Amino acid sequence: MGMLDHWQPVLLSARLHHQPVGVTVAGSQIALFRTSDGAVAAVSDVCPHRRLKLSAGAVIADRLRCKYHGWTFDARGNGESPGAPKMTTCTTSYDAREEHGLVWLKSRESDPVFPAINTDNYFPICTLEHHIPAPLELAVDNFNEIEHSGTVHDTFGYDLDRMNEVQVKFEATDDSVSVVNAGPTKKLNRLFAWLIGIRRGDTFHDHWITRFSPVYSVFDHWWTSPDGSRESMVRWRLYIFFVPQDDRTTRVFSVTFAKSRYPGPVGGLRLFRRLMRREIDREVRADVSMLHHMAEYDTSIEGLKLSRFDKVLGLTRERINRIYRGHAAPRFGLNVTPEPATLTAPTPCQTE
Ligand code: FES
Ligand SMILES: [Fe+2]
Repeated sequence: MGMLDHWQPVLLSARLHHQPVGVTVAGSQIALFRTSDGAVAAVSDVCPHRRLKLSAGAVIADRLRCKYHGWTFDARGNGESPGAPKMTTCTTSYDAREEHGLVWLKSRESDPVFPAINTDNYFPICTLEHHIPAPLELAVDNFNEIEHSGTVHDTFGYDLDRMNEVQVKFEATDDSVSVVNAGPTKKLNRLFAWLIGIRRGDTFHDHWITRFSPVYSVFDHWWTSPDGSRESMVRWRLYIFFVPQDDRTTRVFSVTFAKSRYPGPVGGLRLFRRLMRREIDREVRADVSMLHHMAEYDTSIEGLKLSRFDKVLGLTRERINRIYRGHAAPRFGLNVTPEPATLTAPTPCQTE
């Protein structure tokens, strides 16, 4: 499979109205638009006539009209030229759908499984998008390592002075990597700790699993007393999708849920949604800020002095390369520099 063959989020649904929107996914420019019934459609953003961005145009009925010479394209990429009605043309189109406040797309030729988002009695809090100025591997590294929570985050993480007590367990399958962490919570933002029901010295539990078609991690966060007899009032579940824009930048889409043990409808979570959304946004921005300050953006792990928290770095690179990028397994070790993006060959126009 190539990078565009997986179902992956590319835009917040709320950002796609009547005007088309252009996105870049794994180096491919793609125009998104809504047809008259509100369905999302996706075609190459490069007009086959003279390469203007189709997303600069307008939607007329069910067709995307190029701003330059007025050629129009339907959701399957079938094109018409007002100036040469007898000429047939077409452009690449993609499968597109909307779920959980996001627009998702994949190539027409592939048949991947849509990522299972298991809400399991969790209440939806927010769906956010952030841009990371780093390649896919470095974005995943940041989210798949908890050691930085001692210094970077305010609403979750481990006490930096007791980081050596944090238990870390790894498990890998052919297509996933999972990590279980438990240890002394750091001192948290007081309002947040009070609302969630966390006391000083409690144990913070951080479990995650990362999958690679598309590349995403699912995090479960909660707290207990050190002996496990008392649990925090709220648990979090976050889905973080990593979508490379090109070789140097990555977009991160987060879909956050929470489960509350407080009485009342959905445990009062509706009341705190705005506060939680603000905190999640702030925490992801804190990660983005770290990635702004990297001295180098080399994705190789060779020569790095890795700690016991970094054991997954090689495992995730191997799976990103093999499963997401669709490259053959590297011959020597796991430490490979990604090859250029695999792009899907243009799809001939098809009819329904
Ligand atoms: S460039 Fe699009 S119609 Fe000419
Ligand atoms: Fe982080």
